[in-house]
Amino acid sequence: MEILILENKGDSENDRVLRQKAKPVKDINNDLRKTAQDMIQAMHDDKGVGLAGPQVGFLRRIFVTHAEGDDTRVFINPSIIWTSQEQADAEEGCLSVPGIWADVKRPERIKVQAWNEKGRAFTLEASGMLARVIQHEYDHLEGILFIDRLSETGREKALSRLEKRKAV
Ligand code: NI
Repeated sequence: MEILILENKGDSENDRVLRQKAKPVKDINNDLRKTAQDMIQAMHDDKGVGLAGPQVGFLRRIFVTHAEGDDTRVFINPSIIWTSQEQADAEEGCLSVPGIWADVKRPERIKVQAWNEKGRAFTLEASGMLARVIQHEYDHLEGILFIDRLSETGREKALSRLEKRKAV
């Protein structure tokens, strides 16, 4: 099955989906494993480092990651249970906000608790790029896009580019 990645285009049905808070996954069964596999495939096809359920129209609390130097991971019903005081700035993009890249400030290290596709609970401490990807994907489950987290100047720059993109 090919799955379509929804793009944020302002006032559209896709945007309505991307802005919703995702519901918990109730059962980690074969259907969910298939969806996770499809999401991993779509993430790899688009050379992304992460993809969340709402981005493919699946409004459940699941995301997949493949940060540079890390394995492919599946996070189901995740909670970010700790974040470091130290913050880091780094450039982010999003498969649902194509063409926009901007610096986002986020906690540098986090601890996340979740279930994997086998239904096994795990806790992971992450830093660097993996911590960033997890926070970005977690935001998608809350209906938040990275462009919401930019500084005022960063947002102006990103939005002016977004306007240009919408014009073509
Ligand atoms: Ni994204």
